[in-house]
Amino acid sequence: MKFFKSKESLSEEEAAHLFEIEQKIKSYRAKGVRVPTRKMIKTAAQIEGIRRSAAVNTAVLDEVASQIHAGMTTEEIDTLVYQFTVARGAVPAPLHYEGFPKSVCTSVNDEVCHGIPSPEVVLREGDIVNVDVSTILDGYFSDASRMFMIGKVRPEVKRLVEVTRECLELGLKAARPWGFLGDIGAAVQQHAERNGYSVVREFGGHGVGLKFHEDPFVSHTGKPGTGLLLVPGMVFTIEPMINMGSRKIYIDADNDWTVLTDDGKPSAQWEYTVLITDTGAEIITG
Ligand code: MF3
Ligand code: CO
Repeated sequence: MKFFKSKESLSEEEAAHLFEIEQKIKSYRAKGVRVPTRKMIKTAAQIEGIRRSAAVNTAVLDEVASQIHAGMTTEEIDTLVYQFTVARGAVPAPLHYEGFPKSVCTSVNDEVCHGIPSPEVVLREGDIVNVDVSTILDGYFSDASRMFMIGKVRPEVKRLVEVTRECLELGLKAARPWGFLGDIGAAVQQHAERNGYSVVREFGGHGVGLKFHEDPFVSHTGKPGTGLLLVPGMVFTIEPMINMGSRKIYIDADNDWTVLTDDGKPSAQWEYTVLITDTGAEIITG
């Protein structure tokens, strides 16, 4: 049966397409441009697997969206994510990842990312929360997060959530084949800073698909036309973390995971997994 199992068997057409891409990469490399490694470029079969994983991931986020409410604990979100995911034959990627104790990250208000669900954390009217869902299905990884506003949120906080969403969309728009990672970072950074916000530097997007976190690191700051070349078949996340105040952060010493703003002001984040195509960039998670 091994003979039939190879995921790497490429159609003639795909092999020709990959050859063409490799030739083009070579010409960029000769010009001194930083180019992706072969591992960063997914095959059609791998992309299919990542899409199936992403479909479950999106369904989990949709389920969270339909159930989240004031009075709910973040532990209840964790239970929901775990049960919904395993019922679809998938596994939550965060669970036991480098010792992470839960199935999802829930980051409330001044928590930037990696918030740990807890029965003690009750969502209250006026809170904002990022729910970051990552899924493994048949060995393929996907990763996306959304912000939720609980009831009526202060206008300036709502604005932070909306501008952060715009940062993600502008980053996505800047992502295209034969462009550069710096195009994405620049688009995000410009929009955030023009709105008086700051961009978290210590954490960023990442390649994803065959592992939870792969190369490259996707910075949410940068300069257009700089950084790694973007090539069809690359799959990575764009996931800007935008702070209302200072970009300074610290890690909660009690759990060694949760990242918080130093000034206690709110932070927002939205995340997509995206695929660089022959013509642009496609969102593969919702
Ligand atoms: N989902 C996060 C990301 O976007 C990673 C969280 S690592 C975990 O990269 F262990 F906290 F889940
Ligand atoms: Co991610």
